[in-house]
Amino acid sequence: MNLIFLGPPGAGKGTVADLAKDVLGIPHISSGQLFREQIKIGSPLGKRVEATLKAGNLVDDETTIEFVRERLSRDDVARGYILDGFPRTIAQAEAMCVFSKPEAVINFSLTEEEILRRLEGRRVAPTTGRTYHILYNPPKVEGLDDETGETLIQRPDDKKEAILNRLEVYTRETRPLINHYREKNLLVPLDASPSPQEVLNQLLHLLKEKGIH
Ligand code: AP5
Repeated sequence: MNLIFLGPPGAGKGTVADLAKDVLGIPHISSGQLFREQIKIGSPLGKRVEATLKAGNLVDDETTIEFVRERLSRDDVARGYILDGFPRTIAQAEAMCVFSKPEAVINFSLTEEEILRRLEGRRVAPTTGRTYHILYNPPKVEGLDDETGETLIQRPDDKKEAILNRLEVYTRETRPLINHYREKNLLVPLDASPSPQEVLNQLLHLLKEKGIH
């Protein structure tokens, strides 16, 4: 089952993908998390993309396509994947057709007001990428990851200026993918405003309706 999670920053794609991967038995692959791992280990790629991520701009298509193509060639995606954050441009979507075909593109929708609330309150565990929210999903002990106890951080691109830039980049570069996939009859609209569990239930229902799950 090859699924793409499409939608604006902060819509809850990563949160729902983490819940869905266990139910569906397929890996959650987040292009943003793959880049953040490279930054964390200080690889040449990580050094090259660090400033781009921090500002909330997109990494160039050529680098991103090659990086994701390689990831999707590994054994763990034999039964499918949830791809979160890729493709993000028409060029990426067209390139992807050559190496993998999505069965459904889940389009998360949320108001800009709620996006800002979710992103400003987000905290993450740097090692695992596990995500919390100071109000909606707080850790058991303030500021610490529930499982490892490591200190939670605010992502550098969750500062107000970078968030506003990411929203602009989304509107300009990524939103056109909605029509692109609608025309291919792959688009599945999803209301991302309820709780993560409710969004997951809605997703499973829609997949069942489409005969995918
Ligand atoms: P990426 O990591 O993909 O960032 P994003 O798309 O901006 O998505 P987010 O991770 O911000 O949001 P999300 O929808 O996953 O929300 P989450 O579940 O965390 O990309 C980062 C960067 O990498 C890009 O800016 C770019 O530089 C680069 N990059 C990545 N892919 C690329 C590509 N294809 N091409 C080029 N460059 C690329 O939830 C947000 C918050 O809300 C959390 O605190 C969560 O706890 C809370 N929350 C979630 N769901 C709910 C809910 N239902 N109710 C209440 N709270 C909720």
